[in-house]
Amino acid sequence: MFFTSLSKASLALIAASLVLLLTNSVESHSYADCIDWRFTNPKKSNSWSDKHGACFGYARRFPLKAKPFAKLDSDDPNRHYQQSHKNPDPNHALPCSNGRQGEEPGADETMGHPVTAAYSGKDQHGRKTGMITTTHPGGQLCIRWPAKNHAVPDEKNQPVTIALSGANPKKDPTQLEFLDNIVAKLNYKNCTDKGKDTDIWPCGGCFNLPKNLQTGYHVMQWRWKLNSDEWYTSCADLNVVKK
Ligand SMILES: *[C@@H]1O[C@H](CO)[C@@H](O)[C@H](O)[C@H]1NC(C)=O
Repeated sequence: MFFTSLSKASLALIAASLVLLLTNSVESHSYADCIDWRFTNPKKSNSWSDKHGACFGYARRFPLKAKPFAKLDSDDPNRHYQQSHKNPDPNHALPCSNGRQGEEPGADETMGHPVTAAYSGKDQHGRKTGMITTTHPGGQLCIRWPAKNHAVPDEKNQPVTIALSGANPKKDPTQLEFLDNIVAKLNYKNCTDKGKDTDIWPCGGCFNLPKNLQTGYHVMQWRWKLNSDEWYTSCADLNVVKK
């Protein structure tokens, strides 16, 4: 018989690869990798690769150098956060992951107290976390994310929306409040350096903050829609100062 001729070891190997394949496709979801990406040469900003720029501001408690680019969706906990889409409806879902709720709970991206406590410190594993974004009214932000296999031609291109809170909120806005203040829609498929591995294509978009933005801290939500009912978010604070 075919099966009896296979050793136990090779069966185990096949099973393990299947599990890996399945988990990979399950975990292939995007998140904001950088909130303030700056191209080394702004006149030649045609690549989102690490070779052609650097990050000057991150999402809350973003672990630096924890994994190579694009691989934090399989971090512990996974960085991508999928909002609840069952009950009552996605627009009432928790906007920033608290590490417990959602279709796929993510990392702790709740507001720090003070706001800066979520930056330039250590995460729960003792890893260094990224700095807060400092910007100004009307300032340009370039946000980067990994394609996670979803920027290929046979996938629908649905925009990333960027929403803001007012100045110095005591707590995070609700999802409905964020939806009332969308300041930019970015092209999810604006990716570069498209090598064979479509998982790790770097992508991103640039936009200008409103010119009349008040100074102070603002919560910023990155939100990406996949399929018809999956929303993934990342949350960051912006320290908006006078130019
Ligand atoms: C698309 O990506 C490029 C980098 O290749 C960037 O310079 C450009 O601003 C992006 N386009 C938009 C509309 O964000």
